[in-house]
Amino acid sequence: MKRAWLVTNEFLNTQKYSELNMWLVKVAEKNNIDLLVKTNAELLVDLGSNHTIQNMIEVEKPEFVLFWDKDIRLASFLESLSMKVFNSSKAIEICDNKAMTHIALKQKNIKMPKTILAPMTYENIGFTNYDFVERMKKQLSYPIVVKECFGSFGQQVYLVHDDVELMRCIEKIGAKPFLFQEYIKSSFARDIRLNVVGDQVVATMYRYSDTGDFRANISNGGKMKPFKPTKQQVQLAVDCVKALGLDFAGVDLLFDVNEEPIVCEVNSNAHFKNIYDCTGVDVAEHILGYICNKLKLVNESV
Ligand SMILES: Nc1ncnc2c1ncn2[C@@H]1O[C@H](COP(=O)(O)OP(=O)(O)O)[C@@H](O)[C@H]1O
Ligand SMILES: [Mg+2]
Repeated sequence: MKRAWLVTNEFLNTQKYSELNMWLVKVAEKNNIDLLVKTNAELLVDLGSNHTIQNMIEVEKPEFVLFWDKDIRLASFLESLSMKVFNSSKAIEICDNKAMTHIALKQKNIKMPKTILAPMTYENIGFTNYDFVERMKKQLSYPIVVKECFGSFGQQVYLVHDDVELMRCIEKIGAKPFLFQEYIKSSFARDIRLNVVGDQVVATMYRYSDTGDFRANISNGGKMKPFKPTKQQVQLAVDCVKALGLDFAGVDLLFDVNEEPIVCEVNSNAHFKNIYDCTGVDVAEHILGYICNKLKLVNESV
């Protein structure tokens, strides 16, 4: 049996996460891979004299690393030791930061809502003037979506309706990076999540909310149903994955006024439980199968 590592975050240790880890381990077993779980604290990066990780690699000989976290410093270090890391540190880094995601997608002319990046500031300084807000308001009209660059489950995404709400929101975000975005009204409380593995969309769900909230995230009260994507939606999702250098991802698409797809965001570590419950498709199986195939690891399972 070949070995591989599953890197997880030491501090995300709720039952939900350990279930996902066990799920991946079981699926790997089916592919004849012994997937050894390592947390990012276990794999402590010591750039000095200590060669703990190198020794572990020599002893355990992992064929690849399934990197199920966003600790890009560790992912990058593992790559520097010639480990094959999925997704790559660079792809995870771009995806984790919504501003960087939009910059990369823009370069490939991928359709997205109008997006304006707030200028960066320092925690001990804040914004000393709001001229950039005035310039932004010439491009976007209320309601406006404000998104922190780092966030998930819809928790750092806000809809502001006027100057007072906008300034309150900016103040609350503080010195954290964020962006302003055109609100796609036609996609109110609904979007689609497509799980892409390699150049295939393997599962899709429609997410909608009836709570009055504009966000469709399941963890924010949204509901889900299986969905058959159009050719255009499939193409857009696959284009995003390519543009960002990902091996697999969960792509969120919105509906524009003509029901045409428009990219919302791309997740490098999309959870696969909801999509499984919704569609019966085990995305983890597709991911492990894809990696084994890419690395030409013989799948000896029956
Ligand atoms: N520009 C937008 N217009 C309309 N709805 C949006 C827009 N951006 C995000 N949403 C809604 O908010 C949800 C959360 O936004 P998203 O960027 O996916 O952040 P998160 O990483 O927290 O999921 C989306 O699933 C979608 O329903
Ligand atoms: Mg999302």
